[in-house]
This record gives sequence, structure tokens and C-alpha cells, in this order.
Amino acid sequence: MKVLGIDIGGSSLKGAPVDTKTGELLAERHRIDTPARLSPAEMGEAIARMAAHFDWKGPIGVGFPGVVQGRVVRTSANLHPDFVNLDAVEVFEKAAGAEVSLVNDADAAGLAEATFGAGRGVKGAVLLLTFGTGVGSALFVDGILYPNTEFGHVKRDGESWEKFVSGAAKERRGLDYPEWAADVGAYLRLLEDLLWPDLIIAGGGISADHAKWFPHLKIRSRIVPAEFLNEAGLVGAALHAARAL
Ligand code: BGC
Repeated sequence: MKVLGIDIGGSSLKGAPVDTKTGELLAERHRIDTPARLSPAEMGEAIARMAAHFDWKGPIGVGFPGVVQGRVVRTSANLHPDFVNLDAVEVFEKAAGAEVSLVNDADAAGLAEATFGAGRGVKGAVLLLTFGTGVGSALFVDGILYPNTEFGHVKRDGESWEKFVSGAAKERRGLDYPEWAADVGAYLRLLEDLLWPDLIIAGGGISADHAKWFPHLKIRSRIVPAEFLNEAGLVGAALHAARAL
């Protein structure tokens, strides 16, 4: 199946048509910057623009950075608050004039990695974390996803851990890799004590620099970078659509 995969992020939308049998992109990835917080209607327009860029009439899979139950968004920590409890599928389908499926962005990234990437064929408990604007999580047992885990919102001093260890937090706090990795290590040790994963997969743009920070992590689990790096989200959103639509 061919699906247009779209990953909605904190500062941009990334999209490309994906062959869901192989996980391969069928055209070069396109990016639409969203410097301002888009309302749901504006996001629908951006999705329609993405589809128009590829002259796309087929199904669309969208990854969203919040809890997604069926067609409805439940949380929107870093995007517009009007998404909360909204049937976003309805808004996006109307705007794009195509069938749309919706999935949490980190779950999407996890689906791509579990199917074609660093988690392929791995038995046991696999925890994928994306370090971007926020921290997203996806938890798999023998390749089966437990949806909507929100480990970026485990609390440290009353604040979400993502406020300390996301890629954006590293920039905002002006930390170098060893300093940031000290906090990431503390965060991962907390998750390890709760979940005992067999493998941790680190995704998000910052995973491309893994050689600069993995060596500083004092953790017990095996950790590997996401193989799709920053494309996992859009590939996984397309995979989810191929299964759901
Ligand atoms: C959201 C998650 C999302 C993550 C990464 C968090 O703030 O609550 O749903 O997966 O950011 O975008």
C-alpha cells in the first residue's frame, strides 16, 4: 500500500509518500515550517498543502504529538490547546479531502522501528524514546505496541521530565552533551527501575549525534539509535494508516 505519512512536530510538519510493505520513501521528504502554533483548522490546511505538494489523493497517516484515542486527540502538551478532545480526523479529512488515520507521534516512530528498524525481530520489552520538542515514548512487548505511554510526563520536582531532557530542553538550558547526558541518564535509570526494558531505542533529531552522548549514560540497558532517525515518525504514521484504514 502507498500512504502519505505526515509527522506533526513542535515546529514543522514532515511528510513523504511511503511504501508500507518496505518502509521506503517514494519521494523526497517535504517539510512545512510552523513557527506559530497552528489551530486545528490551520493544521488541516497545512496537511492539505502537504498532500498538494505530492499531488496526493490516496490515504494519509498522521502522527500527532499527544495522546490519541481513535479519531480523538486527548492531550496537546506542545501544540495548540484546541486539539484537546477534538475529532482531529474529521478536521483533517475535510481539509485534505482524503481518508486520514491518526496515531501518537512516538507510537508511530516505534512502529517504524519495530517493523523495519532497530527493534525489528526483537523479543521482550522494547522502549523507544524520542528526544525532540518533547519526549515521546513507545513501549513494545514482543513487537506489540502498548499505545499512548506518556513517559515524557513522568514528574521531576513537579515538572514533566521532558522539560529537562528533550532536545529542545538541551538547547534552552544551554547544556553540552555530557551535562545533558547526566540528566538523560538519571531519567533512563528511573524508567529502567519501573519497566526493566531489554532494549532502549533513542530517536528524534538528536539521536543522529548519539556518539556524543551514549558513552556518558550510566544505565544498565542496551541502548541503540533509531535507524530511521528523523523519518521514523512519518514512516510509522503511514504504517499505522495501512493497518487502520
Ligand atoms: C506528548 C507526547 C508526544 C511527545 C513527543 C509529549 O509532550 O505528550 O504525546 O509523543 O511529546 O512529541
